[in-house]
Amino acid sequence: MNDFYNVVRKRRMVRNYTDEPVPLETINRILEAARKAPSAGFSQGQAMIAVTEATQRKAIAKIADEEKYLARGMDPWISRAPVHVIVCVSKKLYLERYAESDKKDTPQNDENWPVPYWWVDAGATMMTLLLSAVAEGLSAGFLGSHRMPELQDILGIPAHMKPIGIVTIGHPAPDRPSSSLSRGRRAVREVIHHERW
Ligand SMILES: Cc1cc2nc3c(=O)[nH]c(=O)nc-3n(C[C@H](O)[C@H](O)[C@H](O)COP(=O)(O)O)c2cc1C
Repeated sequence: MNDFYNVVRKRRMVRNYTDEPVPLETINRILEAARKAPSAGFSQGQAMIAVTEATQRKAIAKIADEEKYLARGMDPWISRAPVHVIVCVSKKLYLERYAESDKKDTPQNDENWPVPYWWVDAGATMMTLLLSAVAEGLSAGFLGSHRMPELQDILGIPAHMKPIGIVTIGHPAPDRPSSSLSRGRRAVREVIHHERW
């Protein structure tokens, strides 16, 4: 099996890390790989903020309600992760791009999008970060927050850039898997179709 499929297979959301820091060169390779993520019309509306500073990671963990994970018997995995990457995306950059002359015949104004491509592209960035971390021999996780304006505030993210969540990266420590996994994976026949549904 080639390396790429091994990385895909190995990836899972890891919710605990050791204190071992991740070298800046490694962080930069992961970020550089994620910068290669695709974007609609090459709008390139995505952006990332890598945070390693401990006080700031604690503040992010608070905004992400780490206490709720602790109350469920989980580890302080967010504040403990030596690297946080906040993935952001700007709808404004898509509206501007799709107003350019080569895209003008695409009827995509503010209201009329087949799907909101900015969220699609942010997801591609997020997945590239997760897989790149695993390719580096590290582990990663993704989590959302219901307090995005606070996150935006403490990190000085411009108003048009919206954070979609936090990717935690580090060396894995034993963790408690999410209770969501007990749902089991949907059957192949429900998910994968050939030729037609
Ligand atoms: C958009 C999105 C949001 C998620 N939010 C959270 C979250 O807030 N907290 C968390 O612990 N896991 C979160 N997860 C992780 C999922 O629970 C996890 O991907 C799923 O249970 C499958 O597990 P696996 O990725 O380890 O295979 C999120 C995943 C995605 C894709």
